[in-house]
Amino acid sequence: MLYPDTITLTNPLDMHLHLRDGEMLHHIARESAKSFSGAIIMPNLVPPVTSKEEVQAYRKRIVEAIGDETFTPYMTLFFKPTYDKTFLESVKNDIAAIKLYPAGITTNSEGGVSGFDIEELRPALEAMEELDIPLCIHGETNGFVMDREAEFVPIYEKLAAAFPKLKIIMEHITTKESVAALERFENLYATITVHHLYITLDDVAGGMLNPHLFCKPIAKRPEDREALLKAALEAHPKVMFGSDSAPHPRHAKESCGCAAGVFTAPVALQLLAQLFEHHGAPLEHLQQFVSGTAQKIYGITPPSKNVILEKKPYTVKETYGGVVPMYAGETIDFSIREIQHG
Ligand code: NCD
Ligand code: ZN
Repeated sequence: MLYPDTITLTNPLDMHLHLRDGEMLHHIARESAKSFSGAIIMPNLVPPVTSKEEVQAYRKRIVEAIGDETFTPYMTLFFKPTYDKTFLESVKNDIAAIKLYPAGITTNSEGGVSGFDIEELRPALEAMEELDIPLCIHGETNGFVMDREAEFVPIYEKLAAAFPKLKIIMEHITTKESVAALERFENLYATITVHHLYITLDDVAGGMLNPHLFCKPIAKRPEDREALLKAALEAHPKVMFGSDSAPHPRHAKESCGCAAGVFTAPVALQLLAQLFEHHGAPLEHLQQFVSGTAQKIYGITPPSKNVILEKKPYTVKETYGGVVPMYAGETIDFSIREIQHG
């Protein structure tokens, strides 16, 4: 297939994004707000976002930080088993989803869930099911690092079977086991990052250690990346793009005790265009992966924006507000030529 030199993406969505707070929010929010129509905003602040007041106030701070960009922050709450139906009804219009973290599994997740006892989770999850609030899950156990996600698949399946009408989104999947689980339960969906479509553990730790590619879940084996690539390039109807762009200050990454998270917001769409071109995948599939599928699954209509990418070398900046992006200083094949607002 002859690939066009320009690619127009309509209303791109990032279905898993960390915008942080305070100074960091102000430094990095526009990097997403410029080129995306909207994003699902993760609630793992310190302390996490767990009340209506907090979610409304955080949304306001985001809207201030993005200035005049056309961008919808789709907010989330940090899951607590104590959420009841009255509370969830009162907060439903302020959120697009609720994010569940296993306790202590990743950055700022200490107040998460342990044990995954269905009866303990039932009141909150049944209420979410009734109110049609999707549940996003960071699916990792505390087992051996390379096995954590595959070990979590039975927990996804237990939840999907116990709450068949609950939309469960397996966040930032990295394994062939998670891709396979999509076919077994109608109510399981997934997001995939751009970095997990590019890298394996070899890129993180196979040569000189690259802390800027260290994240949770850790990048896996070539066959896992193949399974993720297949799902994305084919525009699997249950798979959405979610960058998991997770900025940390440079000193927190280039240090002993490196923080987990890859910052991809400024390069995500260019890298996706490069990937689809490299594999000769149809552009309609890219459009589905970065917008159409998410609109269907979440039932959202983002504000209108056209991002025109062109095949022109782009050298990635070394830092954005003190944060080192993926492929800093390297040259990639696609640039953003223009962004049109509808
Ligand atoms: C994320 C962060 O830094 O908040 N880190 C990461 O490695 N992805 C948390 C998360 O999504 O796990
Ligand atoms: Zn994340």
